[in-house]
Amino acid sequence: MGCTMKIINFGSLNVDYVYHLSHIVLPGETLASSSMQVNPGGKGANQSVAMIRAGATVWHAGQLGTDTEWMRDRLQKEGIDVRHIKVSGSVRGGHAIIQVDETGQNSIVLYGGANITIEPERIHEVLADAKAGDWLVLQNEINLTSELLKAGKAVGMKVCFNPAPFAPEVFDYPLDCVDLFILNEHEAAGLAKRPIDTAPEILLDELAETYPEAMICLTLGADGSLLWSAESGVLRQFAYSVTAVDTTAAGDTFTGYFLAELTRGSEMKTALDVASRAASIAVTRAGAMDSIPFRKELS
Ligand code: RIB
Repeated sequence: MGCTMKIINFGSLNVDYVYHLSHIVLPGETLASSSMQVNPGGKGANQSVAMIRAGATVWHAGQLGTDTEWMRDRLQKEGIDVRHIKVSGSVRGGHAIIQVDETGQNSIVLYGGANITIEPERIHEVLADAKAGDWLVLQNEINLTSELLKAGKAVGMKVCFNPAPFAPEVFDYPLDCVDLFILNEHEAAGLAKRPIDTAPEILLDELAETYPEAMICLTLGADGSLLWSAESGVLRQFAYSVTAVDTTAAGDTFTGYFLAELTRGSEMKTALDVASRAASIAVTRAGAMDSIPFRKELS
């Protein structure tokens, strides 16, 4: 099955400094790590890699620093179109400090760097290459998100927004431009203005009422995922049971595979199942981008 449209992902590019520890460091505590790695990452870049490994046509737009310039070659080797990845000479590239504990849970400190110094004229440059019906994918790790949401919609793109990490500024964005929200429990609770322990079914109901034009997908880790759309109502997908080694980028893998399936014309149910299978493989491997499976591994 060939792809009929392309995905433009205007998103973050980070270098991840990953530390393995017995537990996530507590306030005031100093803890020795058992190992560390320097890996390519960033929610944006991870999602682009997941989409291309799933078989989509992917263009990544974003900004690196000279210290992280090597990431452009890394994405290009994956087959991603990197013409809209620029390098800033004056700002450090984005990076993340990631702690991973013995159960595979993580905790992340972000430094936006070049990711949050993108000039407004880049929006026009990038979207000049879009056609109506292409997807625009955004996370919340770059600047200009509001402007991009509006501009993407104005040129007739379908817009997927993964508001991660969630921050109150999200409410200032033109969220009526979003066609597909992909949210974990924290992001869903944040967007619904509800406590984190609110039942996902309630969050989904409330979000569907607030954003009736959009599809809403909740990713729930070991509890699978839930999708609401006006067309299909509520769909539930179970999570494949695996032993987690590192959950970093599991959500990015899900997002990338889910969108790639939609661009291939798959049914929602199929897209959820494929995304769930891909994410379950990612959590059995260490790292972010490096943990994302290739499509042939899903069979
Ligand atoms: O979702 C995982 C990603 O979040 C990491 O690669 C890190 O860079 C942060 O952006």
